[in-house]
Amino acid sequence: MESHDEEHAAKLLRAQSHIWNHIFSFMTSMSLKCTVDLGIPDIIHNYAQPMPLSNLIASLPIHSSKTHFIHRLMRIMVHSGFFSQHSDTDSDLGVKYALTDTSLLLLKSNPMSVTPFLQSMLDPILTYPWNHFSNWFKNDDLTPFQTAHGKLFWEYTSSDPNMSNLFNDAMVSDTELVNSLLMVEKCKGVFMGLETLVDVGGGTGTLGQAIAKSFPQLECVVFDLPHVVAGLQGSENLKFVGGDMFETIPPADAILFKWIFHAWSDEECVQLLKNCKKAMLKKGKEGKVIIIDMVVDNEKKDDESLQTQLFFDMLMMVLVKGKERNEKEWFKLISSAGFSNYKITPVLGLRSLIEIYP
Ligand SMILES: C[S@@+](CC[C@H](N)C(=O)[O-])C[C@H]1O[C@@H](n2cnc3c(N)ncnc32)[C@H](O)[C@@H]1O
Repeated sequence: MESHDEEHAAKLLRAQSHIWNHIFSFMTSMSLKCTVDLGIPDIIHNYAQPMPLSNLIASLPIHSSKTHFIHRLMRIMVHSGFFSQHSDTDSDLGVKYALTDTSLLLLKSNPMSVTPFLQSMLDPILTYPWNHFSNWFKNDDLTPFQTAHGKLFWEYTSSDPNMSNLFNDAMVSDTELVNSLLMVEKCKGVFMGLETLVDVGGGTGTLGQAIAKSFPQLECVVFDLPHVVAGLQGSENLKFVGGDMFETIPPADAILFKWIFHAWSDEECVQLLKNCKKAMLKKGKEGKVIIIDMVVDNEKKDDESLQTQLFFDMLMMVLVKGKERNEKEWFKLISSAGFSNYKITPVLGLRSLIEIYP
């Protein structure tokens, strides 16, 4: 009887702890944002060796009454893997902190820095819609973002230059990281033999420019909404074109979409693929669609990777009308648009290269 009671108590407490953990998991994001806002990764990086807490405190732009809180902020950041902690047994300086692979990716000087993505995703304009999530389930708005702000996400960014810049900077830094993986020999084959390529929704052209530079014989077009490409300068083999991808896509051998499909509904994605078919047929050549996006994979992914893919799926539900898709869902889109063949290459971490052939 006693052991039954003990088991019951243990279950109850595990359940309580699990719920507490999830109630407060936003604190990891917010503490991380605070750490980045205070410039802690860069300060530790500039110190060039494990940094004593006292030196860190002395370097921070904080009020003197707040100095004794820093070790608590650092404690949760160390626990979450953003810094490593070293105890200095030879001196009285106490604890020291060093960067980890994760915080290296937060340095402002790193062109692949995830900091612009963090600043954009955790901006109050993007987090506020979560307060309207359940209201949205009860109304006929298209997204919780619309319920919160009275506008769809792309309308909002078109009319707010600050938000537009914040979002574009986030995309640029992400694309720098993807470029560094794509422009290696293993992936370059995807672009070999092509004469023309259009990067649809290519933003301010970071990916298009990298491809145009690596393949000088390839004519590249970066296609995006008119306000995004307005005033951008191309190069010999790269030009910027403004337009609406749901109306028409400039003709090319290969049509590239990075982080586009996940932001749109199934119907809209089928429309995009049908527009690609027209754009490829115009050239009368065999072509392909190249998509960089997630393929949600319940079986092969570790727990954290799957959870991150599910977070993105929720993000797509709250901000835009999209979703993250598993292979079966991708297949459905591809075949509904009349394409016959596809290949998925999981070379980009949580994202894959999806090639679709006519
Ligand atoms: C998530 S961002 C991806 C940007 C870029 N491909 C990257 O990964 O860095 C989506 C892009 O689609 C563009 N976009 C949204 N609606 C569009 C439309 N109807 N036609 C063309 N581009 C559009 C946005 O302006 C934005 O640059």
